[in-house]
Amino acid sequence: MTPRYAAPDRTKLTLPELAEMKRERRPIVMVTAYDAPSGRLADAAGVDVVLVGDSAAMTVLGHDSTVPATMEEMLVLTRAVTRGAHRPLVVADLPFGSFQISDEDALRNAIRFVKEAQADAVKLEGAGASLSRARAIVEAGIPVMGHVGLTPQSATALGGFKAQGRTAEKARRLVDDALALEQAGCFSLVLECVPHELAAFITEKISIPTIGIGAGPACDGQVLVFHDMVGLFDGFKPKFVRRYADLASTMRDAVARYLEDVREGRFPDLATESFHVGGGDELRRLYAATESGAGDPPAGPAREAEPSAEPKESE
Ligand code: KIV
Repeated sequence: MTPRYAAPDRTKLTLPELAEMKRERRPIVMVTAYDAPSGRLADAAGVDVVLVGDSAAMTVLGHDSTVPATMEEMLVLTRAVTRGAHRPLVVADLPFGSFQISDEDALRNAIRFVKEAQADAVKLEGAGASLSRARAIVEAGIPVMGHVGLTPQSATALGGFKAQGRTAEKARRLVDDALALEQAGCFSLVLECVPHELAAFITEKISIPTIGIGAGPACDGQVLVFHDMVGLFDGFKPKFVRRYADLASTMRDAVARYLEDVREGRFPDLATESFHVGGGDELRRLYAATESGAGDPPAGPAREAEPSAEPKESE
């Protein structure tokens, strides 16, 4: 089916264009990606922003939280995504430990994403100390996306993976954090797992685009984790995830059918999926050139002829 919202052109989306989308109330579409194929798919579908999230630790690296993701792993994944996604803004997630220690550390790692992996921007979680980190990175000319609400890198301190800002006092703190991140120069802000009324309030209150995940429909944009959206991650499914495909079962089925074909001798097909020795008497010459070759190739496929060698002593 031809996508109805295909990207109109192939030039990189700019930050002013993103800001304009908020002003014109055109929903911003963001999705995570961790490799070149998913970056390419997101680009082809017309997605605006691709996030190389540290959710990769769970979706592709097999950890049970985002905390173990390292800079080196995130750099490899970001490089792959930027090879595949050209028009969307590619935002690299600063992993836990890469920005907590100092502004200098945060800036050094943000620069690595831009120089070594061609990221367009970086994202960091939290407010508090993250405010001066964001300021330092922005001052160096690297766009920063903020992230408040449920910030998975500090899920333990927040009392687990649950909605944040559900009391007036906690909501007030999140509003202050959002305003402070805007002041620090962030170009956009992820709101994760907050009540939709609070997300709507923050979206009205700040001038930079809000991107929601579990934050209701009033945000300026939405983000979903690629593996959740296409049904590849079969861990738990949060309430806010909508599955648009069930790729895990499609892929499981493909592997099972391949396995069966190999076991039953149906793959590869000799005529259509195999290479053949050149014409003339090439095959006869091949056999003549081997120790065992009496010059006569066996009737069946070459593979069946191989055991003609003497068994080794160890066998
Ligand atoms: O790491 C990630 O995928 C994220 C999104 C959920 C916003 O931070």
